Amino acid sequence: MSTGQRQLIGAVIVLAVFAVTWSGRHSVAAMQTRTVWDGVYTAEQAVRGAPLYEQSCAECHGSDLTGGEMAPGLAGSEFAWNWNGLSVGDLFERVRISMPQGEPSSVSRQDKADILAYMFERSGIPAGETELATRTATLAGISFLAEAPAPK
Ligand code: HEC
Repeated sequence: MSTGQRQLIGAVIVLAVFAVTWSGRHSVAAMQTRTVWDGVYTAEQAVRGAPLYEQSCAECHGSDLTGGEMAPGLAGSEFAWNWNGLSVGDLFERVRISMPQGEPSSVSRQDKADILAYMFERSGIPAGETELATRTATLAGISFLAEAPAPK
């Protein structure tokens, strides 16, 4: 094989890798078209979440969600900037796997989704027509943004 041929093959491989990477990025961006500011939970769901939060989370994170001696706040701007750009699926998985600390299986998936709805309400994120889902794959399609995007 000549040097020219090798260079050509090399260039084709680089281009192919680039194309795959680019299209992969592109589809992730397309999947996350909704944000938490698009009405991703209902007011009733937040009402259900409030006593569940009080029962399972308030002891450490505070009744007003501002955190305690050990645990961080779960509403407001510090919390929001911590999670900015991640997905609601990431946040849900964090809670599903590790919270309440020490006994994460004591609260069901549904109750955790309801608690997230309550946390969103307390962060000033507006409610909408559809409930927050309990499937991580569905929640992965919603971006958590600290601030509402500028209207299109
Ligand atoms: C026994 C105390 C305790 C209880 C109860 C508890 N947490 Fe936590 N939580 C913590 C601590 C401590 C941290 C920070 C250390 C860590 O990451 O584990 C934390 C971290 C978190 C985080 C990550 C916050 C961030 O900005 O990174 C979330 C979200 C969370 N908790 C949600 C919940 C929810 C929802 C409940 C109720 C279902 C709950 N926690 C119950 C102690 C607790």
